Formats: sequence, structure tokens, C-alpha cells
Amino acid sequence: MSDSTAPHHATGPAVPAVSEGRSLPRAEADWWKTAVFYQIYPKSFSDGNDDGVGDLIGVTQRLDYLKLLGVEALWLSPFYKSPMADGGYDVADPTDVDPMFGSLADFDALIAGAHARDIKVTVDIVPNHFSDQHPWFQEALAAEPGSPERERFIFMDGKDGRHPDSSVPPNNWPSIFGGPAWTRVPDGQWYLHIFAPEQPDVNWANPEVAAEFERILRFWLERGADGFRVDVAHSMAKPEGLPDMDLTGYLGPGTQLDVDHRFDNDGVHDHLRMFRRVIDSYPNRMAVGEAWVPDDERLALYVRGDELHLTFNFRLVEAEWGSDSFHAAIDGSLTAMAAVGAPCTWVLSNHDVVRHTTRYGGGQIGRARGRAAALVQLSLPGAVYVYNGDELGLENVDLPDEVLQDPTWKRSGYTERGRDGERVPLPWEGTEPPFGFSHSAQPWLPIPAEWAEQTVAAELADPESTLSLYRKALELRRELPELQSEEFSWLKAPEGCLAYRRGPNLVVALNAGDVPAELPPGEVLLSSSPIEGNKLPANTAVWLRA
Ligand code: GLC
Repeated sequence: MSDSTAPHHATGPAVPAVSEGRSLPRAEADWWKTAVFYQIYPKSFSDGNDDGVGDLIGVTQRLDYLKLLGVEALWLSPFYKSPMADGGYDVADPTDVDPMFGSLADFDALIAGAHARDIKVTVDIVPNHFSDQHPWFQEALAAEPGSPERERFIFMDGKDGRHPDSSVPPNNWPSIFGGPAWTRVPDGQWYLHIFAPEQPDVNWANPEVAAEFERILRFWLERGADGFRVDVAHSMAKPEGLPDMDLTGYLGPGTQLDVDHRFDNDGVHDHLRMFRRVIDSYPNRMAVGEAWVPDDERLALYVRGDELHLTFNFRLVEAEWGSDSFHAAIDGSLTAMAAVGAPCTWVLSNHDVVRHTTRYGGGQIGRARGRAAALVQLSLPGAVYVYNGDELGLENVDLPDEVLQDPTWKRSGYTERGRDGERVPLPWEGTEPPFGFSHSAQPWLPIPAEWAEQTVAAELADPESTLSLYRKALELRRELPELQSEEFSWLKAPEGCLAYRRGPNLVVALNAGDVPAELPPGEVLLSSSPIEGNKLPANTAVWLRA
């Protein structure tokens, strides 16, 4: 940012008018490479039948909003039949809709409505486990040890043998949500559940499992889904012999070791190749993986040409606020993905992590930083995922104990509060809760009264709101060839800042420091907070035409 010639300055956040813009031609098959995806957590997005819980009808009713926001694709977190032990990630019937969310006809209507607006729809697939209420698991419980029914899951005798009072599980693995990863059944065998006991891991060494997931993939592809988000995509292959893990440094429920041999075993790639083969038998479909693999090079293996199309870059999610940490997260991903010819996939928040506005400090400063981070995210080459509520600048909510539903709360012995704070229903309009999310007085989690200023309606009416910033950014992202290109190069930047060039002359600069920095030269196209004079204020990002 040092090569300054006469800069063009703007006063107030630069907000070009939203126009009926031309979209850049892009091969239809490549739509996902630069797409802006919007994650919908169905319970919390919009309640169409006024029972206090969001649903598919609610999503369909809000499609015009999503079009106005400017997103190109949706990712729907699970809406399948589920006892909801883990917010629907405990699937009892992967090819049906839970009545809480509606029906298959509601899903068809959502797809039709989205496609009519040129919005793609992708759905979650949960291949590591089923619900304990899935018929396969019920059959396994009723069957003998060693039976084909048990072979669909991971049943084993304990270290001290098989008898109803054996007390030593097959290995020392903890469950991600707390407690052991094994539960004993009455005949003395144990079954594996990396997550909650209500989520028994399926056995991918059994070809019946792969065949069943092929059926599930085809079911949603036939119904018009444009792709999948693959839940815990790095967990399907378990280490040979299920050895004990080294728990040195393990911090307990809700945390994970950097090196965790339960995940990211090489065998997982064969399963992902099956996914790709099935997906490629339909035109223009895609899959993104959720793989918490901290090593960039190992993560890149998931997006080799015959595996997944995209994989989330969680290093940016884990990066603390700061130019060095952002630089390292971005650079690592760009380098590793380029080596396999895959686009990067940028995320700031999702339903499993504290919202970024809160992570960056909360309040006014968190909001400023969150807006700045969004301008970084939305200007990077590749695909981006926006989590519902990011565009409103929502923060995590401190919820009272009695409403918490995340299994982590109970299984940690009430020490880890879990993920409900980032799952609070969205505020749509009006001056008091539930802000048009529902007409029921009791949404499934309480919505804070302070969100009156952050409803969709309030933010749409305010040109300086975070929602207006996202709309402008998404419009420019669609319209500017530089932002659709893969061209990226780092620029020299003062301490506390980072800067990069996209295409020949689009410059993005972030000041993550505490003091104003020099503004790079150029015409300000968009800034996350008002620019005054030739300074880039602290906690601000800017897009400039150099
Ligand atoms: C993924 C989901 C998370 C869920 C877990 C188990 O990490 O994002 O919400 O609890 O998988 O399915």
C-alpha cells in the first residue's frame, strides 16, 4: 500500500447504486467455482407454519429476499426425518423430510421457486453416521453380534471381552460432544459414535453402506438438487484396528486435537471418488466437503480432479483477527488449492462456530471488523459461503441454560454451552421478538430484543447497514471481471495491514491494526466503514480501482 500516487477519496462508506447489471458469461458447468453460497440453517431461517421452528415453506417464502441479497446458491442444513438429537445431523430417514420442516412436496416447491430465480439449491449429506432411530440401527440392535445387521455399523467387544457388565470400551476415543465414543448394548458389545450416542457411525468398510449412500445421492439429484455439502467428509475411513489415541493435550468436549487419527485416513478418498462418480453422472452438479484438516496440503487432496469440487477453508474461520493470521490462512489455501487446480472456498461463520462478529470482539468493534472481514472474504478468488445472519452482522447470543439444546451442553456435564448461540432465529421485521421469524410467540430459541435494529427490514432501509454492504459487495463481485477471475497477487502493506491485487487493477486493502494507515491510491469502489482523507481507518477494508 506504499506506492501512493494521488488517491481518490470518498467520504462516508462508498456505496455504488445497485443496478440491473449484466452477469458475466460463465460455463454453466463451472457455476460453483466462483459462486456465492448462502447457508440456511432451516430451524432458524424462517417459520412458514408458525410453530416456532423454521421450515422449508419459510425458505420458499423468502426466496425474493435471497435474490435481492444476490446469492447464487443455497446450502440447506439437514431437514431430513430426525429425532433432532443433534439439530438434524442425526438422520433417521435420509430420503424424507421431517414433518417439522414440511414434506417432499415442500422441497420440490422450494427447488422450483429457487430455480425460477436462477438460484441453485444444495443439500447436506451426512455419511459418517445415522440416527439411532434409523431402521438399520434398530435392526442391528435386535440382531446378534457378528450378524450382517451389525456389520453396517461399528460394533465391537470391549477390551475386557463381551459380557453385559464388561466395562472397558474397545478403545479410549472420546466423543466430540463429551463422554466416551462408545456405548454398550445389553449383550455386552459396544458401538462407536464419534458424535452423540444417538449418532452411531456407519461402517464404510461394508459395501452395503456405499451402495446406500449412492442411492441417497441419486435420490436428491433426481429431485433437482444442484449439489451437496458433505458432513464430516474426512471421517468415513477409520484407522486400521481402531487403536487408542494419544490424548496428550486434549482439551475436552467440543475441541479437537490437531493430529487426530480418527479423521483424514487415506481410505476416505476412495469413498469420495464414489461420490464424484455419481454426481458427475448428472449435469452441472457439485459437492463441497466439511473436512477439518488443518494441513493445507492434506486438505487439497480432497479436491483432486476425481474427488470433491470444493472443500471449506477453515483456517480462515480459525484465524484470529489480524493481518498476519489472515495472510497466512489465505496464502496457505491459495497455494495448496492451486497445486491441485481447485478453487478455494472461503467461510467466516457457520452453524458450528461462534459468529465472526463475536469472535472479533463483539459490539461496535466486532461489527466493524466483521464488515471488513466480509469485504476480504467476498473479494477472494474462488467460492464463498455466507451463513444466514452474516449479512445482518448478527452476533452470538448468550442464551439461558434452560433453553440450550446442543448435545454438547449435557454431555460435557454442563460445562460447554455448545453451538446454540450461533443458531438463534433470524430477525426479519418489526420492533419486537420474534421479529416476523414466526407468528408463534415462542420461537425455538429466544431472539434478543436488541435485534430490533438488525432486522432485514431495518437494514434494507439503511444504506449504511451491513446488509446494504453485502448487497453492494455481491453485486460488484458479479459484475467486476477481476473478481470473477483467478488472478491474485499480494501487495506490500504496512504493519497491521494486508493488501492484494485482483486482475490488473482492482486493489483490496485491510487495516486490521489499531491506527489509521495510508490509503492505497485509486478510486474507492466500496469500503466497510467511512473513509476520510487519505487514510484507511483501523478495522476497515476497502476495494479500490487503482
Ligand atoms: C458436522 C456438522 C455439525 C454436526 C456434526 C455431526 O460437523 O456441521 O453440526 O454436529 O457434523 O454430524
